[in-house]
Amino acid sequence: MELADSLESRIRQGSYRSGEKLPSIRQLHGHTGLSISTVYQAFIELETRGLVQARPKSGYFVRPLLTGILPLPAPGKPASHPNPVTVGNLALALLDAMGDPEMLQLGGALVAPELLPARDLAGVLKSIPLRSMGNMLAAYENAQGNLELRRQIARRMLAAPLPSGPAEIVVTHGCMEAVALCLKAVAGSGDTIMVESPTFPWFLQVIEDLKMYALEVPTDCQTGIHLKAVARALELHPVRAAVFMANFQNPSGYLMSDARKAQLVDLMSRHGVPVIEDDIYGDLHFGATRPRPLKAFDTKGEVLYCASFSKTMAPGLRVGWTAPGRYLEAVRRVKLNQSIACPSLNQYQAARYLGSGRFDRHLRKLRRALQNQIANTALAVARYFPAGTKISAPQGGITLWVQLPSGVDSLELFRQALDRKVAILPGVICSTGSAYRNCLRVSCGLPWSSRIEDGIQTLGEIIRKISSST
Ligand SMILES: Cc1ncc(COP(=O)(O)O)c(C=O)c1O
Repeated sequence: MELADSLESRIRQGSYRSGEKLPSIRQLHGHTGLSISTVYQAFIELETRGLVQARPKSGYFVRPLLTGILPLPAPGKPASHPNPVTVGNLALALLDAMGDPEMLQLGGALVAPELLPARDLAGVLKSIPLRSMGNMLAAYENAQGNLELRRQIARRMLAAPLPSGPAEIVVTHGCMEAVALCLKAVAGSGDTIMVESPTFPWFLQVIEDLKMYALEVPTDCQTGIHLKAVARALELHPVRAAVFMANFQNPSGYLMSDARKAQLVDLMSRHGVPVIEDDIYGDLHFGATRPRPLKAFDTKGEVLYCASFSKTMAPGLRVGWTAPGRYLEAVRRVKLNQSIACPSLNQYQAARYLGSGRFDRHLRKLRRALQNQIANTALAVARYFPAGTKISAPQGGITLWVQLPSGVDSLELFRQALDRKVAILPGVICSTGSAYRNCLRVSCGLPWSSRIEDGIQTLGEIIRKISSST
C-alpha cells in the first residue's frame, strides 16, 4: 500500500486540500508506472481510511478530515462555585482587532461575506417599489416582529415540535439580543446563571452587565455538557437559569446526542430551571440531517430557544429570534421596553429571501465550504503547532478549540499575534477563571487560502518562542 501511504501523507501535509480532486487513476498509472488495478486498490484503501470519497464520473476527492488529526482537548476543570464575571477589557481588545482590515481574522466567529447570499439579498431590496419602501420606513414594525418573517421562521423550525406558529416567536436584533432578553425575562441582578465551561465569551459579558453570577459546568469536546456535574451543581446552588448550546457549541464544537439532550432538558425541568438555548449553529451541520435542538425535548415550555441568521444569511441584517415558551409575555415586555421593535426593512428582506426558496440551496453550499475550511485549518494546526497540541473535531459550526501544551499562555500568544496581524480568541476569555489559559479558539469562516496557512504558521512560531522562554 505504498501508493496509499504516500497519498495519505500528501493529504496530511496539505499538498492536496480538503475538497480537492486527486489525480485520476490513469494519471497516477502514468506517473508511477503502477498497474491500473494497483492504483485502483490504493484509492479503495484511502476510501477505507476515510480520506477520500468517489464522486460518480468525476473521480476521487479529498474528504474533509475532521477526526483523528490530533488528540481531543481534555475537559476543563471549572471553579465549583458561582463567580462574578470580569472579561470586559479583553473583549474590547478583540473587537478592535476585528475592525482592523489588515488583520487576518481567525478570532471572531464570522462567515466570510463571499460565502453569504449578498446578491440575492440585494435583489430583494432592489425589487421593493419606492412607495412600499417609504411606507415601511415611515412606520414601526410589529413589536413582536414582521408577521411574514415569523411565519417563515416557524416553517423552518420543523426540527423542534415548537413553536408551531408565528405567535410564539419574537424577532430580535440578532441572537445576542435574544439571549439577553431571555436572561432579563427569567433572572435578575445577583442571580446565578449556569453556563458551559468553556463558554461563548459574550454570554459572560451579558451576565457581567446584568450583575449576575456565572456557575460553570464542565463539558466534553465530543459529548457535551456533563450531566452528572449539572445534577450536582443544581443540588448545591440556587441556579436561576442556564444558557446552553447543544449543537456545535462555541467554542468547543460539541454536538450532544438526542438522548443526552433529552436527559438535560428533563433534569433542568425537574429543578424548575429555565434553559436559554442558543442554536445559532444548528443549520451548519456537516452530517446529513439537522440536529434537533434542546427545545425539541421540551414539553413544558421551559426552554427559551434563540437563534439568528448571522452565520447563515447576513450578520448585518441583525435578524434573530427567540421562541421563549412559557416566558413569551415576559420576553415581549422586555423587548418592548428595551428597543420597541426591530427595523422593518431588514425583516422584510429576510422574509422575502426565505420565501424565495433559495436559502436551503445556499445552506448546502455553505456547509460544504465550512467543512472543508475546518478540515484544512485543523490539518494546518497539526502541521505547524508543537507536539502536545490537542484539537476539537467539530461536526458542524465554524470554530476549532485548540489546547496548547500546558504552560503556553494564549493571552501572550494573542498579544504577540496581534503585532503580526493575526487575530485569535484566547481561551481565558471563555471562562470566569483561568482554566483555559493554554487554549485558544480558531475561527474557520474564511475560505481557505495561503494567507491563512501563513497565519497559522506564524501562530506556531510564536507558540514555540513562548514555550522556549518559559
Ligand atoms: C454562540 C453565539 N451566539 C450568538 C452570537 C451572536 O449572534 P448575532 O450576531 O446574531 O447577535 C454568536 C456570534 O459569534 C455566537 O457565536
